[in-house]
Amino acid sequence: MSNDGVKGPENLGRRRFLTATTAVVGAVGAGFVAVPFIKSWLPSAKAKLAGAPVTADISALQEGQRLVLEWRGQPIWIVKRSKQMLEVLPTLDPRLADPKSSTDQQPAYTKNELRSIKPEISVLVGLCTHLGCAPEMVAEIKPEPFDPEWKGGYFCPCHKSRFDMAGRVFAGVPAPINLLVPPHHYENDTTIVIGVDPTGAA
Ligand code: FES
Repeated sequence: MSNDGVKGPENLGRRRFLTATTAVVGAVGAGFVAVPFIKSWLPSAKAKLAGAPVTADISALQEGQRLVLEWRGQPIWIVKRSKQMLEVLPTLDPRLADPKSSTDQQPAYTKNELRSIKPEISVLVGLCTHLGCAPEMVAEIKPEPFDPEWKGGYFCPCHKSRFDMAGRVFAGVPAPINLLVPPHHYENDTTIVIGVDPTGAA
């Protein structure tokens, strides 16, 4: 039940994350609205400071949406990826700094091509691995001013680091490693617990 295997810049979580609000943020196209549907599940502020696990109901999460919650003072993103988003990921490997996630940026059970337990659900620490800014989710596949070949992902406006929809960092940007994946597991099909590894996880 350890989460110490995930490394990152020190105090990353405290630099830029200023809110403790849980919300769903729409990503693709118009029409997505904030749905604060898990607020009653959050532990108390005291429990959170002590590092208590956080439970999230993802049953209402739609493709292209991101659920944002807080665990240990860090923003945690839970993103439901579409089939198209998943299909694009392998094509990006040549443009990435560490496509195979070779360094210790995620628990062993998410050290796979999609960096996730379930293919469609991505769980990430929402802090840039450069200096801890909060990257923006830019999920649509279309040319962007910061990348004319953009295939969807996360863009950090602070110093222009880019990550794909698996949180893998592009080569040649300031961020040195992929976005971190926090320890987590599924309590059931639609309930994720952040902060606790799956039973028997390596
Ligand atoms: S903090 Fe994200 S690029 Fe510098």
